[in-house]
Amino acid sequence: MNMIVADEANRRFVLNTKNFTYAFQVNDAGFLTNLHWGGRIDRIDDLPTTREVLCHRHHRPRRGEVTRQEYPGWGGEFYGEPALKADFPDGARVCLLQYESFKMEKNTDYEELMVALRDRYPLEVKLHYRVYADSDIIDRRSEIINHGKEPVVLQNAMSACLQMPRIDHDYRLSHLVGRWGKEHTLERQQINQSKITLENRTGLSGPLAVPFFALDDGCATEHTGTVWFGTLHWSGNWKITVEREYNEQVAICGGINDFDFSWPLKSGETFETPVFSLGISRDGFNGASRILHDYERAHILPPAAMQKTMPVIFNSWASMEIDVSEEKIRHVAAKAAEIGAELFVIDDGWQSALGDWFPDQRKFPHGLKPVIEQVKALGMDLGLWVELESFELNSELYRSHPDWVMSFPGRDIYCNVREEIGRTSMLLNLAREDVREYLYQSLRQLIIETGIKYLKLDMNCFFTNPGWNEATPVQRQTIWVKYVRNLYYIFERLNREFPDVLLENCASGAGRSDLAMNRYFARMNRSDNQDPLDILKMHEGYTWLHLSRMAGGGAHISDAGYHINLRKTPMKYQAYIGIMGSLSVGKNLPICTAEELNEIRTYTDLYKKLRHIPQFGDLYRIASHYDNPYAAFEFVSKDKSEALLFVFGHSIQFTDKVPAFRLHGLNYDAVYEIEYYGNTPQGGYTASVDAYSPISGRGLHEIGIRVELLGDYDARILHFTRIK
Ligand code: DGJ
Repeated sequence: MNMIVADEANRRFVLNTKNFTYAFQVNDAGFLTNLHWGGRIDRIDDLPTTREVLCHRHHRPRRGEVTRQEYPGWGGEFYGEPALKADFPDGARVCLLQYESFKMEKNTDYEELMVALRDRYPLEVKLHYRVYADSDIIDRRSEIINHGKEPVVLQNAMSACLQMPRIDHDYRLSHLVGRWGKEHTLERQQINQSKITLENRTGLSGPLAVPFFALDDGCATEHTGTVWFGTLHWSGNWKITVEREYNEQVAICGGINDFDFSWPLKSGETFETPVFSLGISRDGFNGASRILHDYERAHILPPAAMQKTMPVIFNSWASMEIDVSEEKIRHVAAKAAEIGAELFVIDDGWQSALGDWFPDQRKFPHGLKPVIEQVKALGMDLGLWVELESFELNSELYRSHPDWVMSFPGRDIYCNVREEIGRTSMLLNLAREDVREYLYQSLRQLIIETGIKYLKLDMNCFFTNPGWNEATPVQRQTIWVKYVRNLYYIFERLNREFPDVLLENCASGAGRSDLAMNRYFARMNRSDNQDPLDILKMHEGYTWLHLSRMAGGGAHISDAGYHINLRKTPMKYQAYIGIMGSLSVGKNLPICTAEELNEIRTYTDLYKKLRHIPQFGDLYRIASHYDNPYAAFEFVSKDKSEALLFVFGHSIQFTDKVPAFRLHGLNYDAVYEIEYYGNTPQGGYTASVDAYSPISGRGLHEIGIRVELLGDYDARILHFTRIK
């Protein structure tokens, strides 16, 4: 079956993913009407007609014509959320986009369909649909081209609109929200006749909301039911509307936020929207995550980083904050090597100032050279932190380029004041090309001079006063988009030039949690909140969108979580959670006892032994910490020869036994032996699990496996290895 079928006679287009079909057709009035997004349709004539697919019998003919459009322009009898709104030089503001032509492109791993639409003013919209041979994802994006002589001003230019199929229940929306320290929290609501806007206006893609949605009929679970989902590849202001219209049609429209947006499109120019990835899972929310994870692995994340396992990282922030110096770092580096660190990261504080990306001479009188040499001699790689987009009042950069600040003319400059580290900084206007060039060159030089193998990109403020002094009135609102594009430009180039440098997307902890960042950054600071109990909830939401192996931050094993809830937790509990992601240590190593250092070493050794399974395997979320005093996550290697079950118990009471965990994704006919980590000495009555005998994949699914959790902060890892 072809991935893309163009039925030219009927002006019908069918896109086949691995398991699903997406279809649309030109209706009698020339608009592109969606026919189907659901189960696989092999016989094209099984599809409904453009009239049959309408939800309502009493459509006025013209309203029917503009219903279920693939990309509705604003105008005519269309009153929903438009994908495109423009101001034309002749005074018109309507935009009726009718079918013109199509083109197909075949590649080894994907096919792409381009459908061109045109408004009466010579404005063309090219809709792109990319279908992958190995995925249930369709990537949609759009290009808007001004073929007229005069400029057109775009006021809204979305990536795509999706028309949901009519189902026999109300849809339920699941999405991810958050704030600093509480990122990727799951929210749910039913869709009634109304419009729900998911969006972010901070200048970043998060952390207040994540550009992701999932819809189901209200009955899907982690493992069962149909889930439609989508995510935007955009790291600035974005918007996804979920609207149930008067006629019960549910439509989703997503793209760059039209808030404070306008884009002058001169004659001959093209505006390109970001990608909106869409998919369907028949295996519930877990299935949706796995579809996204596989897609990101194969088509998004930097290939060089994806071929490797993630190193054990020591990061200085949690124990030293900005109090770093040559002497201190050299001391800590020796300890970090002892506990098995493979990458030593100097976080904030090494630099002369934000903006001046060279070492602070008072702290590093001989530059970074002695530290670099020592870290290397100890067998570790070196990593550095930058907060690239800001500069301090007290920086050479600000003194020489005060005009580079992001600010409105005649208004006070907005300063980001961090009292805890005595710093006042401002945001650079990265929408400017000279700023982009300066930042790119600074980082390039830094990487070359230091030979670092990791760079952590921080960003600790939202856009406030997003002004651009020199721009013309109509250009001013382009700042949001140009800024983001310039950010990509820098990291796209760096990634190409230095594929061996692992980039961490920090942004204060998941401030830019989107797939566009994942193209360049193979690790993310999931959150600055390192309270392991909180992590169990955040990790669930995080893995809805991102691979578990990307879950970074600098302090899984540390005391850094304490200040969040004044909660003290055992190292084992922290470490086992860290092993599910990209393990890091943030302990104050010089004050650790020999016993503590040894204990940390056992965790880093265990991580090195097991990490290939969570990092290259499939994730199954087995039990949620939202619903239970325990949580469980399972990882299965792609060939199903190995699996890990992580179980975390908190406040187990009475003599309660945790139910058996039913595992997924294993080979039913294979038999697995089990190795067991983290056994707590039995202080209680009797232990019902002493040792595990080999068990089949079917047994693990149908009967499950018992894990004897006890008391507070208990943690276990079960390692399954196929023996037959
Ligand atoms: C916020 C980050 O999220 C932290 O991990 C740390 O790098 C600090 N900024 C440094 O200022």
